[in-house]
Amino acid sequence: MWKGRFQTETSNLVQLYGESISYDWRLYSYDVQGSIAHANALRSAGLISAKEKQAITRGLKEICKEIEAGDFQFKTSLEDIHMNIESALTEKIGDAGARLHTARSRNDQVALDTRLYCRAEITAIIELIAQMQQSLINTAERYQDAVVPGYTHLQRGQPVLFAHHLLAYVEMLDRDAQRLRDAYKRVNVMPLGSGALAGSTIVLDRKQIAKELDFPAITQNSMDAVSDRDYIAELIFDIALTGIHLSRLSEDVILWASAEFDFIELSDAHTTGSSLMPQKKNPDVAELTRGKTGRLIGDLVSILTTIKGLPMTYNRDLQEDKEPLFDAIDTIKAALAVFAEMIDAMKVKTENTRAAASDPFLLATDLADYLVLKKVPFRQAHEIMGQLTAYSLKHNIAFADLTLDEYRQVSDAFDPDVYRVLDIDTALKARKGIGAPSPANIAKQLKRWKRKL
Ligand code: ARG
Repeated sequence: MWKGRFQTETSNLVQLYGESISYDWRLYSYDVQGSIAHANALRSAGLISAKEKQAITRGLKEICKEIEAGDFQFKTSLEDIHMNIESALTEKIGDAGARLHTARSRNDQVALDTRLYCRAEITAIIELIAQMQQSLINTAERYQDAVVPGYTHLQRGQPVLFAHHLLAYVEMLDRDAQRLRDAYKRVNVMPLGSGALAGSTIVLDRKQIAKELDFPAITQNSMDAVSDRDYIAELIFDIALTGIHLSRLSEDVILWASAEFDFIELSDAHTTGSSLMPQKKNPDVAELTRGKTGRLIGDLVSILTTIKGLPMTYNRDLQEDKEPLFDAIDTIKAALAVFAEMIDAMKVKTENTRAAASDPFLLATDLADYLVLKKVPFRQAHEIMGQLTAYSLKHNIAFADLTLDEYRQVSDAFDPDVYRVLDIDTALKARKGIGAPSPANIAKQLKRWKRKL
């Protein structure tokens, strides 16, 4: 493509070092789409004839079909998807193909292709997030009465509904989807016409191109447009954070599936056995998701590091944006899809979760609240309950089995109605403030989410 200035061929090693066709081939449909819009603009400017435009469009569509059918010969010597397609087009239709790159550079071309690709993938990821949320909601609904201990520091804290725990992830995923929708706005800006860095002396109607490709906005600075990869960094961040949320859920699933917790049973279809230990049933999907999240964070660090030292404008370093981008998108899509399936098929051992949630100490806070309602200042109530906990541990007597006398030894604010507090269902029902896990609240939340999704 640049043979005019050069006397010797590019070294083989340099070709191999610099090629991106082995991975950017997947931009082909966007490259074709962008080139057709570009050809239309060339036609509108009178730079190609109607016939040439037709030949270009037909040729590009043929190439697209050949690639889809696996009949296209990608050439490493042609570096990337842009030059592979352009060269094949010129081979096909001759001169008209050679006119296509008028007033265009691969720098604005690759920016356009990548934005078109990101646009489609963001939409796909948002759909997968909704599917994952749906699985969490279905499971929450299936086990709407299940109670579990809620933890802080991985120490039992207070009882909650299992559904509340799952809905916490639905909230996180909702923010993830919001972030992606927001990132979409900045992706959805049309860069073609920026040329290599300074536009072109041949001025095309950028508005026409934007309209044809359904972009509501056009980049306003050609130098920024060819070197901006913020939208990629932002998208990978959004994906990495979604991965981090799945990774936290993975950790919960792994703990729950352990013999120590024994809260859930994952389906055979979503676990693996051991080649050595016959009894094993391993939560590999969750472990892999936790592991792959490390890669997502790596992808983010990779793109940020690529951008950070670049002088204006385009530098070849920017070709390194694609592998982390593709990897992040492929990884999160796979994780969301497989996780949704696993959560759908998961069984909750509700007797076990209830037994764990029936740990009497989980209601120590409720007893402190009880004292507060008897006009004891909270700090004192906290201390009283601390003493009662120590007493209960020392004598190995649960709160419910302590006599009223024993209660009164610690505080005379205790009355016979104290025993009414010591019921897990009462305790849950009482948590009826906005955002708290009373069964009525959870039912409302489930309804809200189902409507929303
Ligand atoms: N494959 C290149 C990339 O992904 C396309 C742009 C090449 N531009 C250039 N000036 N060499 O960045």
